[in-house]
Amino acid sequence: MIDAVAQRMQAMVEAVGYPQAAELFGTLSGGKRLRARLIMMIAGESEAAVTLAAVIELIHAASLLHDDVIDEALLRRGVPSVNATEGSKQAVMLGDILYSKAFSELTQFDSAIAKTVADAVTSLSVGEMMDVKMSEAFNEDEARYLEMLYLKTGVLIEAAAKSAAILCGKDAHAHALYGKNLGIAFQIIDDILDIVSDEATLGKPAMNDFVEGKCTLPYIYLYRALDKEDRAVLTALHGVHANAEQVRWMRSGMETHGSVKAAYAMAQRLSDEARAAIEGDTALAAVLDSMMQRTF
Ligand code: FPP
Ligand code: MG
Repeated sequence: MIDAVAQRMQAMVEAVGYPQAAELFGTLSGGKRLRARLIMMIAGESEAAVTLAAVIELIHAASLLHDDVIDEALLRRGVPSVNATEGSKQAVMLGDILYSKAFSELTQFDSAIAKTVADAVTSLSVGEMMDVKMSEAFNEDEARYLEMLYLKTGVLIEAAAKSAAILCGKDAHAHALYGKNLGIAFQIIDDILDIVSDEATLGKPAMNDFVEGKCTLPYIYLYRALDKEDRAVLTALHGVHANAEQVRWMRSGMETHGSVKAAYAMAQRLSDEARAAIEGDTALAAVLDSMMQRTF
């Protein structure tokens, strides 16, 4: 069924009528398709569900194209990013094509669905703007960080689950709550993998978030546990390419103070809240389990 979503996405981009854009889009790696899988699980395998899943995956793909330009990232899902191979201008414009085509397709849905998805994209953009701003200086504010994660990642997953529920007449509020908590937990796991995994597994450089200025939960928790002197050492490493010894120092500090463990516990709490929201739906509960156990 995920193949049907991928085919629909390709067909939508081909319908734009500019073969170069469709060709470039065809070279992108699809990723985990978490949002599409959720929609198909919640709404069933109808034509409308495939279209909705394709719309949301196109928006997600657009946001990653723009994000890689903003982050100046050279790798995405293990292959060179579009900004790396074609330049930032092409990456931005391909993102705009995907994003506007998705919105055009969105107009065929009920206005409650269209508004849920459109509002999510506004929040997504606010979240990315916050992320960029927060990356300029070391951030130790956990609540602010979690709010940004919710906007940047949680909101679109929340919108996917909620709009799928609306589409098939299920409880929109419960599914939105599930999607929101799943989305934030998903991003926390992403942040943990950046620290505990390696480039070959991740498909992008490891320990790179802090280089990009992102003070993810393990860094915030590590900072809290350190004394004044070590806090200064940590904040001095923010936004710079740390050498191997400095990377080891950060990793061992996180081990000693249980910073990664604490971040994992936060993701687990959110996952439990998501599970409670959709009580009894074993398929959606299984998504939570595999998300918590994922290694890439
Ligand atoms: C990845 O974060 C970025 C996002 C999940 C959202 C990006 C959103 C925008 C660029 C807003 C514009 C939206 C549209 C639809 C045009 P990350 O950099 O922390 O993760 P990464 O390591 O996967 O890059
Ligand atoms: Mg990025």
